Formats: sequence, C-alpha cells, structure tokens
Amino acid sequence: MAEKNRLQELETENLLLKEELERMSTPPFMAATVLEIGKKTARVANKPGEDYEVLIDPKMKEKPTIGGRVLLNPQSKAIMGYSEFQANAGDLAVVEEVKGNRAKVSIKGESRLVINAIQGLKSGDEVILDPSASLAMLKTDSKKTKYNLEQIPNAPWSNVAGLEGVIANIRSEIEEPFANPEIFARYGRKPVKGVLLYGPPGCGKTMIAKSIAYSLSKMNPKAKGAGQFINVKGPEILEKWVGNSEGNIRRIYSSAREAAQETGAPVVVFIDEAEAVLKRRGSGISTDIYDSIVPQFLAELDGINGDGNVMTVLATNREDILDSAVVRDGRVDRRIKVPRPSKEGCKKIFQLYLNGKPFLSEGIFRGKADIDELTAEIAESIYDPKNVAYNVINPREKEPIGQFGYQHLISGAMIKGIVDRATGFAIRREIDSKKKSGLVRQDLERAVQEEFGDNLGFTQSLVVDDWESVFGAKGKYYQGLADQGYLVLERSNQDQLNKQGGKTK
Ligand SMILES: Nc1ncnc2c1ncn2[C@@H]1O[C@H](COP(=O)(O)OP(=O)(O)OP(=O)(O)O)[C@@H](O)[C@H]1O
Ligand SMILES: [Mg+2]
Repeated sequence: MAEKNRLQELETENLLLKEELERMSTPPFMAATVLEIGKKTARVANKPGEDYEVLIDPKMKEKPTIGGRVLLNPQSKAIMGYSEFQANAGDLAVVEEVKGNRAKVSIKGESRLVINAIQGLKSGDEVILDPSASLAMLKTDSKKTKYNLEQIPNAPWSNVAGLEGVIANIRSEIEEPFANPEIFARYGRKPVKGVLLYGPPGCGKTMIAKSIAYSLSKMNPKAKGAGQFINVKGPEILEKWVGNSEGNIRRIYSSAREAAQETGAPVVVFIDEAEAVLKRRGSGISTDIYDSIVPQFLAELDGINGDGNVMTVLATNREDILDSAVVRDGRVDRRIKVPRPSKEGCKKIFQLYLNGKPFLSEGIFRGKADIDELTAEIAESIYDPKNVAYNVINPREKEPIGQFGYQHLISGAMIKGIVDRATGFAIRREIDSKKKSGLVRQDLERAVQEEFGDNLGFTQSLVVDDWESVFGAKGKYYQGLADQGYLVLERSNQDQLNKQGGKTK
C-alpha cells in the first residue's frame, strides 16, 4: 500500500516538474492591448501601425476586455492570459468628436480615428492613448487647464501715456474695421483676426492688449464685460506632456468661440509672452514641440470664420523668433511696434504718474504743482548722452565701440518705478520731519539714478531696436556678436545723474 502511494506521489511530482519545465522553456510572452473583440478572435496592437487579429485561447475563463492588457503566445500569437502590468501610456490627444465606440482625436495637431474605451467621452476631453495610438484608454483630469474667461479689464486708453502714434495705429487698424465691418467688406477688406504687439520689455504691450479688449467691448452694446477676455501667458500653455499644449490652444479657442457666440460680442484672446509657444518650427531646440503647437494655433486662427468676434492679441519682445506662418496675411497680420518712450513720451508718462501728487516748489508746499517744467527737465536728463548705462566693449579694441545710455534703456515700467521711489523719499521725509514736505526735484533725480543703478546689474533684454538705436543699421549685426559673446556690455560706474547738457552739481 505504502509503495502504491509512493508511486502516485512520484507521478504527480513528475507531472509538476514537466509543467514547470515547459513553462520555463517557453519564450517570453508578448504583451498587447486589446482593441476589439470578436466571437473567437480579438484585434490587438502594441506599436503604432501594427495590429493583429489573434485567436482567444478557449481555455481562458474570462474573455478579454477592450483596453485590457493581454499576453500572447509567442508562437501562435493566441491570447493566453492577462498581463499583470499596465501598458506604458502613449500619446495624449484631444477628442474632436465621438461616434459610438469610435472617436476622432487630434494628436499633435493631426486628426486620427481611434477606438474609444472610455465611458461618457465628449469632445474637448483629453485622453491618453495606448502605445499603439489606436485606442483611447484613459481620460486625463484636465480641469487645471480650463481657461477661465475673465472680466474685461478696466483699461481705457488714457492709462497709456506717450504712445499716441501706436494708439492711433491700433484705432485705425483694429477698432475701425471692427466698428464698420460692412464698409470694409465692400472694399474687399477682410476682418482683422489678430494683432502682434512687439517691442522691448516694460513699454506697455500688456497694457495695450488690455486696452484693446476694453475698447472693443465698449464698442459693442452686447458686451457685458464679463467673460470676454482670455488672458494667458505663453509658458502656461506649454505642458511637459507632448500633446497637452495643443489641447490647451484648442481649449482656449473653443472657449473663446463659445463665449463670442453666446453673447454676440467680441472675445479677445490675449497670449502674452507668445514667443514661448509660437517659436519658429524646426529650429532644433530640444524636443521641437513647437512643430506641433504652431500648426494647432494656425488651424485655430484659420478656423475663425472672419466674423471678427474672436480677436487674437499676441505680445512678445522676441518677434525675431516667432514662426513666420503665424503672422502671415490673413492670420495675426497686424504687427504693431510698441517702442521705448521718446523724450516727449517719457515726459508724458512722468506726468501721468506724477499727476495729483503733492509737491514742494520754491519752498512752498503745493497740493498740486505745475509739473510740466519739472518732468521736462527729468526727461531731458534721461536723454542726456552723458548718462551712460553700459559701454560696449570689444576685447580686441582699447576704446568702447559704443554706449547704451539711459535713453536706450528707459521704459514706462522704469518711469513708474522712478516715481514710486521718489514719492517714497518724500514720504520718508514727512514722517521723519513731522511736517508736510512734498516731492522735490532732487527726489526724482535721485530716484532716476537709483532705478538705473539697481537695474543695470541685471541682464538687460535688449531688442534689435535698441541695438539699432546705438549702432544704426548695423545694430542687428552687433546684437549677433554680443549674443555669441564677442562683445561685452560693461556697466558704467557712474554714480551721479548728469543733468541737462552736463551741468553736474
Ligand atoms: N506707455 C505707458 N504708459 C503708462 N504706463 C506704462 C507705459 N508703459 C509701461 N507702463 C507701466 O509699466 C508697467 C509694465 O508695462 P507692460 O506690462 O505693459 O509692459 P510690456 O511691454 O508688456 O513688458 P514685457 O515685455 O516685460 O511683458 C505697466 O503696468 C505700467 O505701470
Ligand atoms: Mg507684458
């Protein structure tokens, strides 16, 4: 009896060992994602463009499910069982349309049909595809990238000083066609789709963009002000996920179109720091995601049917690196330069910010003083060529080959900063002396000197225009040399502001 038992034990062991041996000698299984299921077969895929119809092993207890990850027998390719691992995520895509179990999605700006394995999928959703890019597997939580339509900012043109030419230009290029579409149409002029504002930093591009939105909304009685403005920065559109950035662009424009349709009033899409997303394609910079963002943006612009109710405003201080297709005719084809303030402009911006501030003049405290003369003097000194910010050094030459003066660096933002500093000095004095003081000219002069002093330590974003105002027609060439490190900007060690033709104190 004992012997019989022993024999049976051995037989079982033998069987187990055989099975084990068989299992260990099987070449590795291949994993694949199930796309579709038939009665006895299923369609599976693992790589883009490589899908197979395979048999389902009848011994499998549970039938595979769409989107499931299965193991294929390496020889027969039949489905043997389930993988214990998740598939790597494939591309991200944005859903354009859903029909039954199929969905049309956009991947990197290109449309494609995929199988939908997600319940309740709608257009505008963002999905992760399987590695073969044939199946929508997972919906992402794209809430964080929803674009809120903002209240139109309260930004009348009167907030912008010293840029009369620029404003007049915008009025005739954008506001007039917008206000009189029939007249323009009769002359075969298409509605304006967008404007590019470019120029050095801190000179009013963002302000102007807001004023455009404000004045367009004022021109349309239907505009409620609320929800007619989309304000995003280029870098916010960029996502580390390839595909997401296009989704963001798409969402921005679908929200804008929807709002424009609902209200019958214009929606302004303002993309600040546009160079971050609309860089020239094929420039070979890192992953070249621009290769897909730019076409998506172009498609959106081209899709705006010209009722002029969605207006795109781009702002950048690197117009030289924008993709030229973006600013081609029929797209964002109004290009408006927002330059650094002229001497006259400088004066007007000072006046704007000094207006209504208390002054001390000729020893008398004045609630309001006549600030014309004072601002004229301050503007003169900023434009005094003796006020040098940087010497441009060519290491092979003894003398500096050029100079950036205060006049070449001044901006509206700095002027506001100067006024803030100056009022700070006056306030300090009043608190310390316990009697009414008022701003004096020296406050402004000291503030100019300190504002420049504090700024010069930082790398300046000098635009082509700035180089041209120092080096004339060769500006771009010198800028190139500086970019490549052949020229150096050496900070001038000036510690006193020169005033009006060098009458230094
Ligand atoms: N022409 C101007 N009139 C009045 N204020 C101005 C003007 N230009 C600039 N400012 C002041 O400077 C601030 C910065 O300007 P703004 O943000 O419009 O510059 P920007 O050209 O968009 O700069 P960036 O390229 O750095 O984005 C404004 O909020 C405003 O206070
Ligand atoms: Mg700006």
